[in-house]
Amino acid sequence: MINPEEIGEYLYLRPLEVQDIDNGWLDWVNNPDTSSSLTSIKENKKLTKTDLKTYLENSQMPTAKMFAICLKEDDTYIGNARISSIDYNHSKCSYGRFIGNVDYRGKGFGSEVLKLIIQHCFLKLKLNRVSTVVFTDNIPSIKSNEKVGMVNEGILRQSIYHKGEFRDVISFAMTRKEFDYIYATP
Ligand SMILES: CC(C)(COP(=O)(O)OP(=O)(O)OC[C@H]1O[C@@H](n2cnc3c(N)ncnc32)[C@H](O)[C@@H]1OP(=O)(O)O)[C@@H](O)C(=O)NCCC(=O)NCCS
Repeated sequence: MINPEEIGEYLYLRPLEVQDIDNGWLDWVNNPDTSSSLTSIKENKKLTKTDLKTYLENSQMPTAKMFAICLKEDDTYIGNARISSIDYNHSKCSYGRFIGNVDYRGKGFGSEVLKLIIQHCFLKLKLNRVSTVVFTDNIPSIKSNEKVGMVNEGILRQSIYHKGEFRDVISFAMTRKEFDYIYATP
């Protein structure tokens, strides 16, 4: 493993590097397979290397953090995870993630990544609430959020402007108390 920050059963998270842009990131975010589900994408235009460099520069602590999702067995980089809007006053943050390489979707990796993200937010950053929003038609994301114990807080109507339309999202969140209840080892 290279520089791991969180380690799971099959995956680990390491800091995302500028070199990852050419290693898959740029292709993945410009592929409709991925971009149609990403709430962070606004315009219907191709993102450039410079756009991603700026995004990475703007996603640094203390307010955000980006990770590369890698396979433990051979360090293959398969997607990104991002913690953002870190707010120590209210002890909360948001997260996003994608498995960019479609061959690795539907194998439980998205759910494993999500566990590693929330583990990082509650145990390392010591926050009290972790949340995300998901397009209402994104079944794999909805299912994986439910699977790890994120609570469905309801629909935010036309909350995200995405490629020319305002789209409904579901708000999911977990509190520290819920995390301890589900994941604390006795
Ligand atoms: C959303 C995403 C991260 C989920 O990761 P994943 O590895 O594909 O999901 P998992 O394999 O962990 O599956 C989670 C659940 O969704 C189900 N699922 C996965 N793909 C599915 C599909 N295409 N249709 C229906 N259900 C699906 C799985 O069966 C599993 O449910 P189960 O445990 O009840 O069987 C991944 O699909 C992805 O990156 N999609 C594109 C980008 C994206 O949507 N990012 C999230 C934005 S909010």
